[in-house]
Amino acid sequence: MHTHDDALPAFDQPFWDNLYTEQGQRWSGKANPVLVTEASKLTPGTALDIGSGEGGDAFWLSDNGWTTTGADISEVALERARQAQGDRGIEWLHRDLLTWEPEAQYDLVTAHFFQLPPHQTGPAFTRFGDAVTPGGHLLIVGHSPHDHMASQHKHAQLLFDADAITSLFDAAEWTTVVAEDRARDGVDPDGTPAERRDTVVLLRRSGS
Ligand SMILES: C[S@@+](CC[C@H](N)C(=O)[O-])C[C@H]1O[C@@H](n2cnc3c(N)ncnc32)[C@H](O)[C@@H]1O
Repeated sequence: MHTHDDALPAFDQPFWDNLYTEQGQRWSGKANPVLVTEASKLTPGTALDIGSGEGGDAFWLSDNGWTTTGADISEVALERARQAQGDRGIEWLHRDLLTWEPEAQYDLVTAHFFQLPPHQTGPAFTRFGDAVTPGGHLLIVGHSPHDHMASQHKHAQLLFDADAITSLFDAAEWTTVVAEDRARDGVDPDGTPAERRDTVVLLRRSGS
């Protein structure tokens, strides 16, 4: 049977290690603005950064009082993050988060631009929810389908809107704090400054 996913590469460790190896530094090294805005409203505790890449978000969390764990499939990215973390005490996990079973729970689980083929999104993101403590938060951010570059996105089927995420979570257990399409100052792939749009979902798990 053919699906839309037939056209997609395998997003496995060699894919991500190659992507990182192609460039000395892949991302800006800075925290994502949505993380800064949303996590600044929360009381720091333990945090897990899903797909932590070169560590920008994990560094910000650690610098802002969170006991931080970063998890990624790419050893290249994890090694860059380890090298750049200075004296921050961040724990780094080398995991394939598509098959991973949470080994702990965290007050904040955050996933920025962890974009998956649609059939993998539901199982993965609900497992990320399992890793949230009662009373904790799950923050999921992706490139919005309404971003002006969306139609040119190489793998447009990976983009999700807020409803696609909130519909995965039982409203009896999860309160939607934020579910929106949000503009931010960003750059286009060629480096030109431009307004970019993110899908932003922040959920709170019921409990103490
Ligand atoms: C688009 S990058 C985003 C990196 C970082 N969150 C940021 O916003 O700059 C996606 C990250 O997820 C990681 N990743 C992709 N699939 C993964 C998987 N199955 N398990 C663990 N990490 C994965 C990649 O290695 C990459 O670092």
